[in-house]
Amino acid sequence: MKNNNLRWHHNKISIKDREQLIHQKGLLIWFTGLSGSGKSTIASALEEALFHKGKLCYLLDGDNIRHGLNSDLDFSIKDRKENIRRVAEVANLMVDANLIVITSFISPLIDDRENVRKMFGKYFIEVFVDCPLNICEMRDVKGLYKKARNKEIQNFTGISSPYEKPINPEIVLNSEKNSIETLVEQILNFMSINKFI
Ligand code: ADX
Repeated sequence: MKNNNLRWHHNKISIKDREQLIHQKGLLIWFTGLSGSGKSTIASALEEALFHKGKLCYLLDGDNIRHGLNSDLDFSIKDRKENIRRVAEVANLMVDANLIVITSFISPLIDDRENVRKMFGKYFIEVFVDCPLNICEMRDVKGLYKKARNKEIQNFTGISSPYEKPINPEIVLNSEKNSIETLVEQILNFMSINKFI
């Protein structure tokens, strides 16, 4: 809702000033993929690798954010949209503070992810963790696929709710066939070739 009684305040310290202080530019690395595809594990390993390279990172993870900021949201299409919108706004503040933000959300809809891309322009890397549904379901780390098949949970991504694969992501990770180390290396290579690190 637009409120005409609000006025934007321009701060004295700019993004450039912060850049000079901490010697890094902000960036958003957005993981998307099915539940159980390995997003969070890879994202966490990436955070660790970047940290050891002296980069200040912050990981926002779907399961964690849904415990706090987004604990009022369910898994309807409408609430998933709101989940992604809020996370993008939080990430936007953190990227403005020059952090490398890594997010791990199923984020099943192309439209929602494209809205995030528009916000961040060239400081956005979409990472599609490509793992076939049958493999995610076989792993069933949290036992949720079984519950979804038994109709104990509704709107489960891949079973009773859609997942739209990215059309043109910056990075596609094959998490069925590769080790975490190889996949992290793949992302670091991309970042290095494109001068993000
Ligand atoms: S998103 O679709 O809105 O992006 P998000 O990444 O925040 O989803 O949360 C997904 C996590 O919530 C999954 O990893 C899983 O642990 C849990 N979960 C619980 N119910 C569902 C459901 N119906 N569909 C998908 N994930 C679910």
